[in-house]
Amino acid sequence: MIIIKSSDDLAHMRVSGQMAAEVLNEVARKVGPGVTTGELDVLAADMIAAMGGKSAFYGYRGYPGHICVSVNEEVVHGIPGHRRIQMGDIVSLDVGVVYDGFVGDTARTVMVGVTDPEVIRLVHTGQRALDVAVEAAVAGARLSDVSHAIETVAVDAGYSVVRDFVGHGVGRSMHEDPQIPNYGPRGKGPKLKPGMTLAIEPMINMGMFEVDVMGDGWTVLTRDRKPSVHFEHSVAIREEGPAEVLTCAKKK
Ligand code: MF3
Ligand code: CO
Ligand code: CO
Repeated sequence: MIIIKSSDDLAHMRVSGQMAAEVLNEVARKVGPGVTTGELDVLAADMIAAMGGKSAFYGYRGYPGHICVSVNEEVVHGIPGHRRIQMGDIVSLDVGVVYDGFVGDTARTVMVGVTDPEVIRLVHTGQRALDVAVEAAVAGARLSDVSHAIETVAVDAGYSVVRDFVGHGVGRSMHEDPQIPNYGPRGKGPKLKPGMTLAIEPMINMGMFEVDVMGDGWTVLTRDRKPSVHFEHSVAIREEGPAEVLTCAKKK
């Protein structure tokens, strides 16, 4: 069942969304050569605690981190630890914050001194896929119009979309209905209605779409070990126009 949020619920979603976005921004600023993924996790955990929130990930099905940090060929769900970030890496950061009963979920891939033009193009394609998907998320459209928009951007750029992981409704739970695949035909699935809140999250691979899960039970990596990018916003469908991005940091 897809939950339509009241305007009061949406006000709460803006708060948790903003918190997640601010944590993501700060963690992204700290990413650099020599930094370990575990250090990023500690920074996020401290910030979330200082805000009076909770990580939506910590303890989720036994997940041991506060955020996910996925490097290069890692697609999503990388567990923070001793891995040291190096020049030329791309680092996908995923942050989920629960505050006052509502979840904000947002992700971004950042580049660390990347010079390979193909990797830069992959990162830009992931960002564009999310932007285009948010624009496609208008009241009256069908859910799969969002999926199709993502797939089109990825495939036109010569890349592939991950099939085993999807976007999702978001609200009082991190993962609500509906599932939002990053591929599919136009015109299928439920009609988007004002007050629906969705986590739209393209995962785009430079090479083949197939992925494997590592022995740690969490880290997802591309089967061909080529790089992958991940961008995510929690959004709310409006009466008119593109969805409202909830995971926006407050301008300072
Ligand atoms: N935030 C992820 C998503 O976008 C889910 C992470 S679950 C975790 O849906 F347990 F790995 F943290
Ligand atoms: Co996420
Ligand atoms: Co998500």
